[in-house]
Amino acid sequence: MDIWNDYLTEHKQRFLDELFDLLRIPSVSADPQFKEDVYKAAQYVYTKLLEAGAEKVETCKTAGYPIIYAEKIIDPSLPTVLVYGHYDVQPPDPYELWDSPPFQPIIKNEKIYARGACDDKGQMYMHIKAFEVLNKTNSLPCNVKFMFEGEEEVGSENLGIFVAENKDKLKADVVLISDTSMIANDIPSITTGLRGLSYVQVEVTGPNRDLHSGVYGGAVANPINVLTKMIAALQDDQGRITIPGFYDKVHILTPDEQAELNGTPFDLDAYKNELEINDIQGEEGFNTLERSGVRPSLDVNGIWGGYTGEGAKTVLPSKAYAKISMRLVPNQDSEEITRLFKQYFESLAPPSVKVTVTPHHGGEPAVTPTNSIAYQAASMAFETTFGKKPVPTRDGGSIPIVALFEKELQLKTVLMGFGLNSDAIHSPNEHYGLFNYYKGIETIPHFYKNYHQLKKGNNVVSSTTQEVSQ
Ligand code: BES
Ligand code: MN
Ligand code: MN
Repeated sequence: MDIWNDYLTEHKQRFLDELFDLLRIPSVSADPQFKEDVYKAAQYVYTKLLEAGAEKVETCKTAGYPIIYAEKIIDPSLPTVLVYGHYDVQPPDPYELWDSPPFQPIIKNEKIYARGACDDKGQMYMHIKAFEVLNKTNSLPCNVKFMFEGEEEVGSENLGIFVAENKDKLKADVVLISDTSMIANDIPSITTGLRGLSYVQVEVTGPNRDLHSGVYGGAVANPINVLTKMIAALQDDQGRITIPGFYDKVHILTPDEQAELNGTPFDLDAYKNELEINDIQGEEGFNTLERSGVRPSLDVNGIWGGYTGEGAKTVLPSKAYAKISMRLVPNQDSEEITRLFKQYFESLAPPSVKVTVTPHHGGEPAVTPTNSIAYQAASMAFETTFGKKPVPTRDGGSIPIVALFEKELQLKTVLMGFGLNSDAIHSPNEHYGLFNYYKGIETIPHFYKNYHQLKKGNNVVSSTTQEVSQ
């Protein structure tokens, strides 16, 4: 569509400047130190939705950070797309590993470097700009509702409540999210599955105070030694998780699902090279795509205790801690898995220590259909702008709200992500390609147009050269 491309070309620099302004706001939801900034980011999103032409823009208060809601209903008889994204970001730590400050976005090698550049400010902002393109060129083909939250990186607890309490307001035909990744810039893909999550913190307590490791060492249990042994016992030599009942509900792929997953282009050498590892590791009997997409996993995310400062202090610590995540797949249930973990972990503790397990947040796994009109609309949109049909893929990350959309609103989601696994989300030097940012803004309008056409029952010509029939 020339009018869209013309508008995008004309406003290209401003579209980037505005994203930069958003990236400068350190909206770290996990750390109360950034509270004011999270509110500032919400306000920024509010203003930009209004400027882009959204109506009924609202700041919806929650028990935590606000949800920014907006809509443009052009004709109630047309289909409605509910766009979801998040304006909060992960903590930038460790600061010292960033080559440039995380909240001072810069462009290097055609990429935007900043915390949130990809996850999810860059991808969320594409939707506001794609809407602007459609709206300002008078070519919005569907009704649209926006719901942007500020607590995704801390578990979306209040969003779950908001969705359950606002079913009418959020009535739509489909949910559209850009918060996932594609295989490569020349191998577009659409995510069709996300893993769920159980996240716990464990605390192991030995003696009532830190002890001299010479006076007591060897005679009193060291909680760090004990904790590491307990953690090691959570997986066997075959890479299987040992928690009783853990795999009971795991969906085993049908031959068709297996063939589809393993039809995904994957280059193991490139994967290893990018991570600078000599070998991969995981559950026996499964390949990397299966291990990260359709099999559950268990990882220690952080572990601490004792003396970690300069030099050597001889101490037998009183306490040891770890944060442990479990990625879940259909049909595992996050609360049940957390319960099974707690039971088993407590049973692993020797009588010489006390153990507590505190659940953090969780989320259910989700799969999205590939035979829906919405998937087809997304697929054809990619085909138009990338010149290639996208491949369906499973992502290992979690977006807990996707399962809730289905449960509470009976809505299916299309995961139209434009990030890359190499974008270093949650890591130092997170970045997002300029190509990806602009390609997203270019592709999203085609989704709306195709979705409108397909819902109407018109035959849309799927070709890389031919325009979708109006
Ligand atoms: N956007 C990510 C999830 C993601 C990343 C999905 C890459 C697919 C590919 C999201 O912001 C995220 O980080 N989610 C958290 C879960 C949340 C409950 C803290 C995650 O997956 O760790
Ligand atoms: Mn995200
Ligand atoms: Mn994230």
